[in-house]
Amino acid sequence: MAMIAFKCPKIEVVVVDIAVARINAWNSDRLPIFEPGLDEVVKACRGRNLFFSADVEKHVAEADIVFVSVNTPTKTRGLGAGKAADLTYWESAARMIADVSKSDKIVVEKSTVPVKTAEAIEKILTHNNKGINFQILSNPEFLAEGTAMEDLAKPDRVLIGGRETPEGRKAVETLKAVYAHWVPEDQIITMNLWSAELSKLAANAILAQRISSVNAMSALCEATGADVAEVAYAVGKDSRIGPKFLNASVGFGGSCFQKDILNLVYICECNGLTEVANYWKQVVQINDYQKSRFVKRVVSSMFNTVSGKKIAILGFAFKKDTGDTRETAAIDVCHGLLGDKAQLSVYDPQVTADQIMRDLAMNKFDWDHPQHLQPMSPTTTKQVDVVWDAYEATKNAHGVCILTEWDEFKKLDYKRIYDGMQKPAFIFDGRNVINVEELRKIGFIVYSVGKPLDPWVKDLPAAPPS
Ligand code: UDX
Repeated sequence: MAMIAFKCPKIEVVVVDIAVARINAWNSDRLPIFEPGLDEVVKACRGRNLFFSADVEKHVAEADIVFVSVNTPTKTRGLGAGKAADLTYWESAARMIADVSKSDKIVVEKSTVPVKTAEAIEKILTHNNKGINFQILSNPEFLAEGTAMEDLAKPDRVLIGGRETPEGRKAVETLKAVYAHWVPEDQIITMNLWSAELSKLAANAILAQRISSVNAMSALCEATGADVAEVAYAVGKDSRIGPKFLNASVGFGGSCFQKDILNLVYICECNGLTEVANYWKQVVQINDYQKSRFVKRVVSSMFNTVSGKKIAILGFAFKKDTGDTRETAAIDVCHGLLGDKAQLSVYDPQVTADQIMRDLAMNKFDWDHPQHLQPMSPTTTKQVDVVWDAYEATKNAHGVCILTEWDEFKKLDYKRIYDGMQKPAFIFDGRNVINVEELRKIGFIVYSVGKPLDPWVKDLPAAPPS
């Protein structure tokens, strides 16, 4: 919305939320999220044509176009628990829009939703306010965190789905005109509602599948002595495949990939497409395997136990340049190590201690259901320490795990880190950010995902399955 306000000075944009504290933060000098370039854009238009307000009903009533971007988390209870999208928030937003509307409106689905959600929303809107014409559009968002402003300023494409009726087509044109302020027209793709809804799920599923494919290869590389970075480079040189999104890692995270794939799996199952559902399920299963494989490498390398040993965790966010920890691989890795009674010292340049402790105390999917939050377990508090410096985290540690690819981890003084650690000093790089040869020269025992193994790591027996 900030980018729309920035690019379209004549359009008034009001961002509304029932959470007053969030709105206050958006109106303050310290925005509630960290995203490179966002501060500048918000500050350029706030008070001009970009406003933040908790007066939801007033501004929805006045709007011509309402973008709905409420949470659509994975259901944790009832039918479809663990897979289906929970549309509670969407449904209540739609009922509120119907209640307060006094003029015709275009209602835009920005949240990623199961296919055919628009149909349900349309029913709620039209049955609750018969005098108003509501046009539902699907306009999925493809930005990635950390590069959001760039992605918004120069999107690969903007997708708009609408009803194939004269009113539907008119609504599509209205929204298209908004984006046409800065996006070339041939990059604004229009299609039917269901194709637009499914395209978002399909794009995320295929992106995640690429990562699971390269991560699956990383296991084979370790077993054979191949180097996954070299394999990915060679594969990506094929112009049909392309070089992006082929970095092996400790596992993908973020609020979208797992949730959207599980949702896709559920939709396939509901449509009787068991084979298709199983195919996509594998993408999530390989991701879980990659995280537990990493934990096993750590434990087995460190003489089959990390009990009572200090392990430094460098990076907790799900990727660099964000403070977001939703579904971050770090949560599962830390749980694995805590299960083996390790003592963790965590450092991330953007994630607060509170957030880390809360994440480690949560059950799966709870992050998106604040009402299910668990009180922090006393064990977690005793076993985890959060510090504000990589050197502090690694001091006296037996091992270091790099779980986010922050640029600063490439530039650390690893000799200094080595000198301050217990010996033998282990380093486990889940993001391929360190120079393996240099670190081995310093004296570290190094594991880097998908790279030829240090004999020390290789010769140890595998840890029993957790
Ligand atoms: C994703 C989609 O990219 C975006 O289009 C959609 O709108 C939302 O979901 P995001 O979750 O912000 O965006 O980040 P993304 O860059 O896709 O990374 C997702 C995860 O995959 C991260 O944990 C990242 O570290 C990991 N990843 C990415 C890899 O492990 N290897 C890669 O090569 C790329």
